[in-house]
Amino acid sequence: MEIQEQTVNPMPRIGDAAPDFEAMTTFGPIKFSEYGKGKWVILFSHPADFTPVCTTELSGFAQNKATFDALNTELIGLSIDSIHSHLAWVNNVREKTGVEFNFPIIADLDMKVAKLYGMLQPNESETAAVRAVFFIDPEKKIRLIMYYPLNVGRNMDEIIRVLEALQTSDKHKVAMPLNWKKGEKVIVPPPKTVEEMEQRLQDTSCERIDFYLCKKEL
Ligand code: BEZ
Repeated sequence: MEIQEQTVNPMPRIGDAAPDFEAMTTFGPIKFSEYGKGKWVILFSHPADFTPVCTTELSGFAQNKATFDALNTELIGLSIDSIHSHLAWVNNVREKTGVEFNFPIIADLDMKVAKLYGMLQPNESETAAVRAVFFIDPEKKIRLIMYYPLNVGRNMDEIIRVLEALQTSDKHKVAMPLNWKKGEKVIVPPPKTVEEMEQRLQDTSCERIDFYLCKKEL
């Protein structure tokens, strides 16, 4: 029988404060609100250790650690596996591929964190977390959420692209158009009053299609 509803907490949404929790990780115990203080945090779940797609994904996060460091961002993984399983997998991937999982991985055996973050989506799997990615800003607010099913790996370029987009948007008070990539023109926020609209129609500092659609270089 299909499971219609989650019997757990409501799923966190964009704009919500990131729910706090304490957990055991491969780097020791953490209190999430203390993790990566003053930085962006990417919390991501994978369905299970020792599975092929997850191995490629966590290797991708590890191989891009320097990029995340440069973007003032800490990584933290999670699955509903034990610490022993995590450690065995970390060791196995290091031995077989030379890739070091250089970020903590939460052992969420009681599913406490997975339920708190809506990572358990029972119509996809009752026993494994889906592939979730939570982008959490330095004020501990959830800014972007991705959910992928078990059979499709995430896209590291897209994860980095949206992180850069969020940070650039915050810094310059602009928005990002379709397929925006770092270095490309950004959207100037549209006017909110008739007066601002008239000003925008005279504005020569941006590339204007009309008053509501203007782009500029940063
Ligand atoms: C994988 O990572 O390959 C995987 C994990 C859980 C279900 C299906 C695939």
